[in-house]
Amino acid sequence: MTEIAILDRARLRSLFDLRGSYLARTGGSFETDPYPAWHRLRETGPVHEGTVHELTGVSEDLLFAGLPFPDRRHFSVFSWAACDAAYRNPEVFASSPDPVDLNSGASGALNSMLSMGGAEHRRYRALVQPSFVPNRAEWWIHNWIERTVHLLIDGFLADGRAELNVDFCAAIPVLTITSSFGVPVEQALDIRASIGQPAKIIEILRPIVAARREEPRDDLISVLVQAEITDEDGTRHRLSDAEVFSFSLLLLIAGSGTTWKQMGITLTALLQRPDVLAAVREDRALLRPAIEESLRWMPTDPMFARYATRDIDFHGTHIPEGSVLHICLAAANRDPARWDDADAYDIRRQLKPSFAFGGGPHICLGMHVARAEIRIGIGALLDRLPNLRLDPDAEQPRFIGMYERGATAIPVLFG
Ligand code: HEM
Repeated sequence: MTEIAILDRARLRSLFDLRGSYLARTGGSFETDPYPAWHRLRETGPVHEGTVHELTGVSEDLLFAGLPFPDRRHFSVFSWAACDAAYRNPEVFASSPDPVDLNSGASGALNSMLSMGGAEHRRYRALVQPSFVPNRAEWWIHNWIERTVHLLIDGFLADGRAELNVDFCAAIPVLTITSSFGVPVEQALDIRASIGQPAKIIEILRPIVAARREEPRDDLISVLVQAEITDEDGTRHRLSDAEVFSFSLLLLIAGSGTTWKQMGITLTALLQRPDVLAAVREDRALLRPAIEESLRWMPTDPMFARYATRDIDFHGTHIPEGSVLHICLAAANRDPARWDDADAYDIRRQLKPSFAFGGGPHICLGMHVARAEIRIGIGALLDRLPNLRLDPDAEQPRFIGMYERGATAIPVLFG
């Protein structure tokens, strides 16, 4: 039995079904195409009072970055120019309503550099940035991504059919990030199942952190335990356990669900367009633009929030201090002021940066790892599965979800 065979597929399915209870609070039951509503909103003004989901017609209470905060006023931004301006002004549009305290605050992905600002954010981010730069992608590919991808394909190769959304796309990022921490495969799903209960994840990580402090290896926890941070007063110190756990929780939460859903979106977009899939199979250089276009066309997380630190007149709307500003980056990514025929998935359009990975100082730290996972994953499917196609007799994939968008299931045949 290979290590990957230890993965419990039924458990994987329950943890990674957008329609399941696990993702209900982020709008997993939302099945309508939101883009027509977002176009209308952008056309009637770049900034609207309300949350993105309310303005899109969803009345349930949802939970995501910047939500629910019922006591604050909420505004949402839909144009490229206004989203760009918000990202470029982190002094006014801060990432958190409260100061961050890694050593005594509650453990969790939000009590991390994601919520910091200014110089503090720069100091913490600089510690991990070297492991995430483009030419470090090979380190990730050789150590963790390639092996995972091929073992997963080995698991279904003989069947002539597979469900790729969960059995492939979901498994790759969670196994990549957990194995980069030194967590064994059999515990990878315990970690995923414990999202929302950071104490449980910390108990899994604690012995690994202690072991790497004794004897570092070539992995991410070793990078964290050896990193030295310079405090504001100039003193240098190694990261405390609480700081290492904060980074680890952030990387786990930020890195696994997102890449899973974006890989599924990319794969579905290609499988639904057999001519485009054939072109990518023929000329593998087209895989990179196919991924960039999926990120523009349908970013898995369409919104991230900021908190106004003072009153501001912003693109025609007065935003009072304390308000939450929801940056609807998915709407910005289809702004006709920036892209022609913005609703079309067109891998040959001229490449321009999109906001799928955010913008400004908090732009996604893991974007090159995410791109590498998607590229190696889809590339290996094309290399190893001849005549890969959607199963015409199965329910066809659909894109669903409000704040976490992705494909329902991707049933394929090959051979
Ligand atoms: C396709 C997959 C991914 C997407 C669409 C994505 C998207 C994003 C976005 C939009 C942000 C900015 C959030 C904000 O502005 O508040 C972000 C931040 C972040 N992402 Fe990703 N992400 C992906 C994959 C990853 C991976 C694989 C990792 C790590 C291995 C990762 C780690 C992070 C971290 C640490 C931050 C916080 C950066 C900071 O605060 O300076 N992400 N991501």
